[in-house]
Amino acid sequence: MAYHMMSFRSHISLLIILFGFLGLISFPVEAAIKKYQFDIQMKNVSRLCHAKPIVTVNGRFPGPTIYAREGDRVQINVTNHVNYNLSIHWHGLKQYRNGWADGPAYITQCPIQTGGSYTYDFNVTGQRGTLWWHAHILWLRATVYGAIVIMPKQGTPFPFPQPAGEFEILLGEWWHKDVEEVEKQGNQMGLPPNMSDAHTINGKPGPLFPCSEKHTYAMEVEKGKTYLLRIINAALNDELFFAISGHNMTVVEVDAVYTKPFTTQSILIGPGQTTNVLVKANKIASRYFIATRTFMDAPLSVDNKTATAIFQYKGVSNTIIPSFPLLPFANDTNFALNYSKKLKSLNSAKYPVNVPLKVDRNLFFTIGLGMNSCPTCINGTRLVASLNNVTFVMPKTALLQAHHFNIKGVFRTDFPDKPSTPFNYTGAPLTANLGTSITGTRVSKIAFNSTVEIVLQDTNLLTVESHPFHLHGYNFFVVGTGIGNFDPAKDPAKYNLVDPMERNTVGVPTGGWTAIRFRADNPGIVYRPHFKNVKIICEFFYQFVILAKIANYKTF
Ligand SMILES: *[C@@H]1O[C@H](CO)[C@@H](O)[C@H](O)[C@H]1NC(C)=O
Ligand SMILES: *[C@@H]1O[C@H](CO)[C@@H](O)[C@H](O)[C@H]1NC(C)=O
Ligand SMILES: *[C@@H]1O[C@H](CO)[C@@H](O)[C@H](O)[C@H]1NC(C)=O
Ligand SMILES: *[C@@H]1O[C@H](CO)[C@@H](O)[C@H](O)[C@H]1NC(C)=O
Ligand SMILES: *[C@@H]1O[C@H](CO)[C@@H](O)[C@H](O)[C@H]1NC(C)=O
Ligand SMILES: *[C@@H]1O[C@H](CO)[C@@H](O)[C@H](O)[C@H]1NC(C)=O
Ligand SMILES: *[C@@H]1O[C@H](CO)[C@@H](O)[C@H](O)[C@H]1NC(C)=O
Ligand SMILES: *[C@@H]1O[C@H](CO)[C@@H](O)[C@H](O)[C@H]1NC(C)=O
Ligand SMILES: *[C@@H]1O[C@H](CO)[C@@H](O)[C@H](O)[C@H]1NC(C)=O
Ligand SMILES: *[C@@H]1O[C@H](CO)[C@@H](O)[C@H](O)[C@H]1NC(C)=O
Ligand SMILES: *[C@@H]1O[C@H](CO)[C@@H](O)[C@H](O)[C@H]1NC(C)=O
Ligand SMILES: *[C@@H]1O[C@H](CO)[C@@H](O)[C@H](O)[C@H]1NC(C)=O
Repeated sequence: MAYHMMSFRSHISLLIILFGFLGLISFPVEAAIKKYQFDIQMKNVSRLCHAKPIVTVNGRFPGPTIYAREGDRVQINVTNHVNYNLSIHWHGLKQYRNGWADGPAYITQCPIQTGGSYTYDFNVTGQRGTLWWHAHILWLRATVYGAIVIMPKQGTPFPFPQPAGEFEILLGEWWHKDVEEVEKQGNQMGLPPNMSDAHTINGKPGPLFPCSEKHTYAMEVEKGKTYLLRIINAALNDELFFAISGHNMTVVEVDAVYTKPFTTQSILIGPGQTTNVLVKANKIASRYFIATRTFMDAPLSVDNKTATAIFQYKGVSNTIIPSFPLLPFANDTNFALNYSKKLKSLNSAKYPVNVPLKVDRNLFFTIGLGMNSCPTCINGTRLVASLNNVTFVMPKTALLQAHHFNIKGVFRTDFPDKPSTPFNYTGAPLTANLGTSITGTRVSKIAFNSTVEIVLQDTNLLTVESHPFHLHGYNFFVVGTGIGNFDPAKDPAKYNLVDPMERNTVGVPTGGWTAIRFRADNPGIVYRPHFKNVKIICEFFYQFVILAKIANYKTF
């Protein structure tokens, strides 16, 4: 292990030199270079009358926004001044042929050690809209996160009316205790970690919580104007409803992909997802609550507390008590299903949908919970998550490095394409024989430039639950979704292959399935699903990874 760590450090510095060299000789002069310095440092902050030190970027919570235009090159020098090793993930950036800059610790790189620096260097290619960045190790992303705003190329308008102004709205979770302790305790006990104590809007829980005078976010708007809200769900676990009292929202973009615009009273946004909405400030000039609360339709306990902020018309007195929006019930499955049905790619001449119509490789992944033996845990078992009954084992060596430098023994390429034993996935809850396979780090190998379909099937192992699923550095098309067991004979006929939503993170409904398609044209990239609740504890155990087979990956 020591050998690997050492060798990786030298590999990383070698790569930085290569990037710098290539950048000098080949970067076109017209593209701007946006440079950022991220100093990872501790900062004492107080929320809900509890003070604690948190890990931040540049002492800010949420962290600074990265602004770029499509086509720009972005260089972020991350310097680590805290006693945690960490890396930063640029969630949703496509990173073509540039997996090294993607950020997940032990997947594409070793973490940046205390006192160390690493410069992330990437081009923003073929995407524009709202994305975000976050720490990608342990639970540090609870406080280490921020927005990425990508404007269209100079002179290219939005495909919707130009807003008068923009606001970034980051939804998060707050724990009174040190988040690393919360995670560690859950892990040691083999149980889900304690739920958060509050949700936050731009780091602030709002007036429904104590000590909120200074901790309420307010956005000021002018009557008659239309605003663009860039909403990001940076919560670790919770799918969230979001609404503004008295004002409908028009959804125009998700995960930095334009949508067919539609109007709604509430949006639903999963962990890792972004949603851009237009809001017209055309109501009586007053103060209106913005509110966000968890969606949960499985019998699991979650942080069900509502965070609020204020939508405030200019010139209105702060003494006016805002009205409260109507949010869907916490368990409103129908709202969730209808909302995801409304999400469709814009599919215009300028922004066409390139969904694969023919599939080279079909994968069927069941998502389940399991119980493995853990002598030191309460009850002697540890709750884990699995895909096709395989629980991810976090390697000690970053997978991309192992692949690139041909280091043997780090991972196996025999991740199963389908469950070894089919069963009634969403039938009666299964509570016996819950062990999962934990035989090392297993990945799927996908031929370069082949088209892939993955059907993600929730299961009733212990309980059904909705699961967010994210591909790193990649977008995919959500071609179908349904409740119950996926039916390979009937369901594909109902796929939307005309204007399916293209995105980077999708929810698999509770007791249901979701089918996604993509072209594996980004060699070396690594994918992994995000699980929530129970599953986050086991981040180290249940990731699933695909390495696209390398064509000309080593050319840089
Ligand atoms: C960024 O784009 C330039 C120009 O197309 C290219 O030369 C360079 O290799 C790209 N960098 C990365 C990291 O992809
Ligand atoms: C946070 O507060 C504690 C107690 O007052 C203090 O010892 C510590 O130095 C502070 N940390 C930072 C980063 O300011
Ligand atoms: C990154 O920042 C650190 C600390 O400020 C500095 O020492 C280092 O030279 C910087 N690296 C680059 C590539 O600019
Ligand atoms: C950071 O990584 C180094 C090298 O692997 C290790 O020695 C150190 O213990 C790690 N620090 C923490 C806080 O985990
Ligand atoms: C988690 O919650 C339990 C029960 O409320 C409490 O005893 C424990 O101290 C909490 N742990 C952490 C790390 O907050
Ligand atoms: C919001 O939209 C709904 C349905 O489209 C409509 O019934 C309602 O009147 C609208 N509300 C406002 C405040 O415009
Ligand atoms: C929120 O959850 C707590 C338990 O965590 C429960 O006691 C309470 O009734 C729930 N509140 C609502 C409104 O569902
Ligand atoms: C959903 O929640 C509402 C309000 O808490 C409750 O009245 C209703 O019974 C719940 N529905 C289901 C299906 O659990
Ligand atoms: C331990 O197992 C018992 C019996 O299965 C169960 O009732 C209890 O909730 C479990 N405790 C924990 C902390 O998982
Ligand atoms: C699966 O289980 C459900 C609920 O128990 C049942 O209605 C259904 O018939 C079962 N399907 C099969 C194929 O056995
Ligand atoms: C998962 O794998 C374990 C260990 O090989 C086995 O005991 C169990 O039956 C499998 N479960 C399912 C649902 O396939
Ligand atoms: C990938 O395949 C598509 C469709 O066959 C083709 O148009 C494209 O040129 C291929 N891309 C590469 C990089 O080989």
